[in-house]
Amino acid sequence: MRDGKLGVAVHGAGWVAGAHVASWLKNPRVEVVSISDIRRERSQQLAERYGLHCAIREDYGEVLADPAVDIVDVTGPNHVHTEHGIAAAEAGKHVLVEKPIALTMEENRALREAVAKAGVKSLAGFCLRWNPAVQTIKSLVESGAIGDLFYVETDYWHGMGPSHHAWNLHSKKKTGGSAMLLAGCHAVDALRWLAGDEAEEVSAVSNNRKGLFEYDANVVAVVRFRTGIIGKVSALFDCEMPYAFNMDLAGTEGAIRDDRVWSKKLFPGQTGWTRCATVLPDSGDVHHHPFDGEINHFVDCILEDRESHCNLADAYRTHELCMAIDRSIEEGGPVKLPLEV
Ligand SMILES: NC(=O)c1ccc[n+]([C@@H]2O[C@H](COP(=O)([O-])OP(=O)(O)OC[C@H]3O[C@@H](n4cnc5c(N)ncnc54)[C@H](O)[C@@H]3O)[C@@H](O)[C@H]2O)c1
Repeated sequence: MRDGKLGVAVHGAGWVAGAHVASWLKNPRVEVVSISDIRRERSQQLAERYGLHCAIREDYGEVLADPAVDIVDVTGPNHVHTEHGIAAAEAGKHVLVEKPIALTMEENRALREAVAKAGVKSLAGFCLRWNPAVQTIKSLVESGAIGDLFYVETDYWHGMGPSHHAWNLHSKKKTGGSAMLLAGCHAVDALRWLAGDEAEEVSAVSNNRKGLFEYDANVVAVVRFRTGIIGKVSALFDCEMPYAFNMDLAGTEGAIRDDRVWSKKLFPGQTGWTRCATVLPDSGDVHHHPFDGEINHFVDCILEDRESHCNLADAYRTHELCMAIDRSIEEGGPVKLPLEV
């Protein structure tokens, strides 16, 4: 800490890092002290964009050796997240890792273990937990507004192709992962978060209709949770439509469809859906993402010495479910969780 502020190092100075920096700058209890990237000019451009006079680096070792750095924000590409996250934890830094946090179960486990061993605070980039519509749904379900939840459905529908800025990395299996790991993980995380439960079995099918990605671009999975809740989750990259993130929930006394609520408890005599004025997760633009809430929450957790509901141990479960979905596609049948490595 310097002048009572936590020092933040942003490692990977691309698109999402720009939105993260904007959010870090709004929090008065932190200071961005370092920006790094394997391409120095990227870090320089990002610092200039926000008028920052912080350290500009290419060498991650230097970042981790800097005593002014309390928090490392891992924002490079998918395939380096685990390695960067483990190194940050081992250096005693609190760590925010963008999604996906891992591309294999071995990585997933290693990251969870490194964070637990180091005793640092951690956060995964599942920013949708701070989206106002997601928060509203979560709070309605927890208040019993729709009775006993028995069905949850979430979809990540985002048409992507070669014009995507990170196409070379995202379209390949080794660096993108899979449709579920690359971006469907937001829907998988929302499914778990809204169900408030862990999956015990999953069955998935997929196709690759346009043949643009190295892996199947369109995936749908049905999930059975431990308490008997059933669910469906999908990721579509081949779709031709505006970005959509759908959330449907059914309970014994009501239902929720995105921003529409049907609740016998809340609205006796209701004759149609009641719409909540809220912000839906309806954009793929990082500047629309609720990083302010996510980052403020992480800073609170560090300063108040408490664990986040979205820490890397929790994100392990979301990634495990993504990998179980991928395994079900590969094996052509249901897969039970937890997964053995
Ligand atoms: N939470 C969200 O909603 C959300 C949204 C967008 C992106 N993301 C995630 O953020 C990550 C970055 O995505 P992006 O769109 O900003 O990509 P990007 O290509 O714009 O930025 C990545 C940056 O990392 C740098 N880089 C590459 N290899 C590196 C290394 N080994 N060490 C340090 N820097 C390295 C690149 O030079 C580039 O500047 C991805 O993993 C993506 O999944 C999350």
